Amino acid sequence: MSGVDGGERTAQAGGPLDDPQVANAQVTHVTQRPLGVLAALPQELGDLIEAMRAESGVRTVIHGRRDYHVGTVHGVPCVVTLARVGKVAAAATVSALIHAFDVEAVVFTGVAGGVGEQVRVGDIVVANALLQHDLDASPLFPRFEVPLLGMSRFAADAALAAQLAQACERFIADEGAASAARFGTREARVHRGLIISGDQFVASAAGVRALRDALPDALAVEMEGAAIAQVCHEYGVPCAVVRTISDTADDHAPASFVSFLTEIAGTYSNAILTRFLKARGER
Ligand code: ADE
Repeated sequence: MSGVDGGERTAQAGGPLDDPQVANAQVTHVTQRPLGVLAALPQELGDLIEAMRAESGVRTVIHGRRDYHVGTVHGVPCVVTLARVGKVAAAATVSALIHAFDVEAVVFTGVAGGVGEQVRVGDIVVANALLQHDLDASPLFPRFEVPLLGMSRFAADAALAAQLAQACERFIADEGAASAARFGTREARVHRGLIISGDQFVASAAGVRALRDALPDALAVEMEGAAIAQVCHEYGVPCAVVRTISDTADDHAPASFVSFLTEIAGTYSNAILTRFLKARGER
């Protein structure tokens, strides 16, 4: 933790951690490494930080121009942060989670554009594997391959991804019909498979067709997940990515993305993360 406590600005937010007796009670948790939970944008995190504030209090650590919120949610010690947008931002953030906060695993949540023919707005995709669709050092290396690592697809942790998918299925069983009626979407489906990432917001029929042609098994496109999966692979940290489909990466994508992000994304994240963390807290 030297990276955090040495030389970085730390701020103590209000809550039970301010009470020394409660702080002492936390000592029993010191050996339990936290879970890193992150999203790109605040709307994609839902009310997670408020839930942490209510349950344990929040200690906010500023590191590399980001706020890392440390506390407990649904019984699970967590470090919650925003990566911001793009692969570099995501890689920098997850690297800090690993090195400065010693997270035991990483979960990324947010929205994505649907690429697979069966993937519609309102569906949920849990990654089995992730790939950078804009990485191309050909002819020196095969298209999509990370040079010198010899890999293009990074596997999500199977157990973590299965737990996330179960949380999604439970959400749909509990609230799928009601939330479909509320948001005017069809009842959500959970898909599992390949998520692709690149430093572009894909927003044209031609663009999404080109991705489908190059990567026929891709289900969803976003801008962070594969960078997180690569860094986690390199450090041996389990990771999983869940994405709700905000648009279908075509010409309607900008409008669909904005309305989904502002009106729906937080509800989905809350519902999925609550179920996922409660189940993890009961382990
Ligand atoms: N995230 C959500 N929708 C996206 C899209 N169409 N392209 C890239 N990232 C996205």
